[in-house]
Amino acid sequence: MRPTALIPVLFGLAAFVLTMLCIFAGSKRDFMQDYSIITLNTSRIGTNVFNTTSDTDSDSNIFESIWDNVTNSIESSLNDKINSFAQDLGLHDFYSAHLLDYCSGYYTPTDLPNATVSKSDIDQNVTYCSNRTSFFHFNPTTALETELNKTGLGITLEDLHWPDAVNDGIRTLRIAQKAAFILYCISAALLLIATLASLISVFFSGRFSAFIDISLWFLAFLAIALASALTTAVAVKASSVINKHGRSIGVEAQRGNKFMAITWVATGLAGLSVFVWVFECLRGRRRERYVGHVEK
Ligand SMILES: *[C@@H]1O[C@H](CO)[C@@H](O)[C@H](O)[C@H]1NC(C)=O
Ligand SMILES: *[C@@H]1O[C@H](CO)[C@@H](O)[C@H](O)[C@H]1NC(C)=O
Ligand SMILES: *[C@@H]1O[C@H](CO)[C@@H](O)[C@H](O)[C@H]1NC(C)=O
Ligand SMILES: *[C@@H]1O[C@H](CO)[C@@H](O)[C@H](O)[C@H]1NC(C)=O
Ligand SMILES: *[C@@H]1O[C@H](CO)[C@@H](O)[C@H](O)[C@H]1NC(C)=O
Repeated sequence: MRPTALIPVLFGLAAFVLTMLCIFAGSKRDFMQDYSIITLNTSRIGTNVFNTTSDTDSDSNIFESIWDNVTNSIESSLNDKINSFAQDLGLHDFYSAHLLDYCSGYYTPTDLPNATVSKSDIDQNVTYCSNRTSFFHFNPTTALETELNKTGLGITLEDLHWPDAVNDGIRTLRIAQKAAFILYCISAALLLIATLASLISVFFSGRFSAFIDISLWFLAFLAIALASALTTAVAVKASSVINKHGRSIGVEAQRGNKFMAITWVATGLAGLSVFVWVFECLRGRRRERYVGHVEK
């Protein structure tokens, strides 16, 4: 019997559950929507374009050319502030990217904090989620374009000054997003195998089984650490690109800190399990040496 082996079993189960949650978070409209990898806030998109009081001349031509297509509702919502711009254009207020899909919806009760509604009072009301797909990759440009086309107002992303840099930035992250999905699947499998191996080792106290456990746990740790590092890098890079080039047109991005928290906790648990097994192995060697000494 090796009761210490129960510690990695518990850690492994917890890490496995967290990894599965990372994969499936946000895959349904009412399931862990807060745990997005990155959230795009488009509620103020086009603010600068539709602001007639703005005296920047560079915008006036574009403004005039699309003026005919713009309904009165957009004009009036500049002042009423009840509906967001995005809503008037047929867009959603926010788009949150998950590992398997993206979801979108509206901020309630309002998209802008005011005197009575503070930022923490603003909730997300998710109204749509894309179909779940493996190897999903979030492309906000396509998502926004599809919705703009549906309204029939004839407004395009170019009219809203959607920056090309965002498209380029997102395109370079496509491979990373797909690789992250594979890594999470591999991590989940390895964590499960390592946990089962640890469970078996509770009943076998040889050093050989300890070596197998160290190797399995190390591989599982490597996989989940890589997956976490990759998604963190994607979220940080994407949000910095979007914030740098999107702020001027009223688009903000925020990386999902809750998602980052659970993926790094899973990584930490896998790392601790490696340590438990290394400790167990060293202790085993000392015990064998001690037994050998007594037999002499
Ligand atoms: C429109 O532009 C003017 C001048 O730049 C600015 O003071 C005003 O706040 C803008 N209005 C809105 C609704 O953004
Ligand atoms: C703040 O926004 C809410 C929701 O749109 C609105 O009911 C409230 O009157 C606003 N408060 C102020 C002070 O504008
Ligand atoms: C969320 O959106 C749905 C559909 O648009 C709407 O029926 C519901 O009342 C909204 N919930 C809140 C809290 O605003
Ligand atoms: C999503 O799935 C449904 C049913 O499986 C299908 O009818 C629909 O076309 C799919 N939507 C997209 C955007 O692929
Ligand atoms: C959405 O972005 C706008 C500016 O683009 C900001 O003023 C607003 O507070 C943001 N809303 C939320 C809920 O983050």
